[in-house]
Amino acid sequence: MRKFLFIPLLLVTLMSMASCGGSDNDPLTPETPGEGDDNPDTPTPGGNGRYLVLYCSRTSNTERVAQQIQTTLDCDILEVEPQTAFESDYNAMLSRAQTELAAIREGNYPAIKTSVESFGKYDLIFVGYPIWYGSMATPMQTFLHEHAAKLAGKRIALFATSGSSGISSSVSEAKGLCSGATFTETLLLTSSTLSQMASRVTTWLEQLGANREENNNNNTSMKMNITVGGRTITATMEDNAAGRDFLSRLPLEVTLNDYNNITEKIFYPSPALTTAGVTRGCTPVPGDITIYVPWGNVAIFCKNWSQTNDLIKIGHIDGDGISALNVAGDVAVKFEKQ
Ligand SMILES: Cc1cc2nc3c(=O)[nH]c(=O)nc-3n(C[C@H](O)[C@H](O)[C@H](O)COP(=O)(O)O)c2cc1C
Repeated sequence: MRKFLFIPLLLVTLMSMASCGGSDNDPLTPETPGEGDDNPDTPTPGGNGRYLVLYCSRTSNTERVAQQIQTTLDCDILEVEPQTAFESDYNAMLSRAQTELAAIREGNYPAIKTSVESFGKYDLIFVGYPIWYGSMATPMQTFLHEHAAKLAGKRIALFATSGSSGISSSVSEAKGLCSGATFTETLLLTSSTLSQMASRVTTWLEQLGANREENNNNNTSMKMNITVGGRTITATMEDNAAGRDFLSRLPLEVTLNDYNNITEKIFYPSPALTTAGVTRGCTPVPGDITIYVPWGNVAIFCKNWSQTNDLIKIGHIDGDGISALNVAGDVAVKFEKQ
C-alpha cells in the first residue's frame, strides 16, 4: 500500500530509519500532517496511484467510510484536519460550526493544517465529510477552497455521513468551490444506513468503475475486443488517464447511436470518463475513439473530420475494424478487455 508522508524533513529521516523495523504492518490509520508546518503535505513520489481518499471527521463515522474505500481500493488516504482541534463537547461544537459556517458565507474560511502540493497522478479523488447544518463540514470547505485550482479537471466523488440530512446542499457547495472539477455519483450514509457501509461502498465503487489498484497496475494491456453483431474487432487504447478509465469499466455493453449520418457512433459513459491531465486536440480519422469534451460522450469516428481542441483521442480501432461500425443507424456493441 502506498501512503502519503506528511512530516517535516527531520522526521522524514527518523521515520525512514524506523521503517526498517517493519512499518508495512502499520494499521490503515492515515498519517498525521505536520503540525504548525506551512509546507504542503507532499505525497511520496513514485507508484501509479489512481485514487486518493480525502476526508474529515470528528467522531469517526466519515473516517470509517473513508477507510472502507481505502481498504477496498488499496489507495492513498489523507485526513483533512482543522488547525484548531474539534471541540469534544457537542454543544460547543455546534456553536463553533455555526460560527464557521457563517464566516464561510462571508468568504472567511477557518484555517486547516492540511495542504496538498499536487493531485497530478490521481484519476479519481474521493472527498468525504460529515454534514453540519445541512452543509459540508467546514474543514473540507476550506480544503476545497484552497485547492480549487489544483483540482480543476479532476474527477471528484463526494461522500458524506449525517444523522438524517441529505447530501444535495453540500454537493452544490462543492461544485461552487471547485467549478473546474467533474463530479460523479455521490454516497450518503445516515445514522440508519451506516451499518450497511460495506455493501453500500462496494456498490458505489462498482458504479464509479473504481477497481482495486493492483488489478489495474498489473494489467498493462491497452487492448480491447469490440463485438458488433457476429463480428469481433479489436482496438488499442491510449495509455492516458481517459484510456485507462475506459478500460477499467469493461466489460461494457452499450448501444452506439449514429451521429451526423455515419460520421460518428456515440454513447454517453456514466459517469463521464476522466480527462484529467490528458492532452486535448485531435484530427479524427476513421477508427479513432475519442471523447467530445463539451458533452462528455465517447465518439468513434467512421469518417475523417477536421481538427478540434474539443476532442481527446483515447484509442483507435485496429486495422479495418471500423468497417463493422460504418453502417446506418444505431449499433449494439460489447467492449471487453483482451
Ligand atoms: C456541528 C454538527 C452539525 C450537525 N448537523 C447535522 C445536520 O444538519 N443534519 C444531520 O443529519 N446531522 C448533523 N450532524 C450529525 C453528523 O452529520 C453525523 O453525526 C455525522 O455522521 C458525523 O460524522 P463524523 O463522525 O465523521 O464527524 C451534525 C453534527 C455536528 C457535530
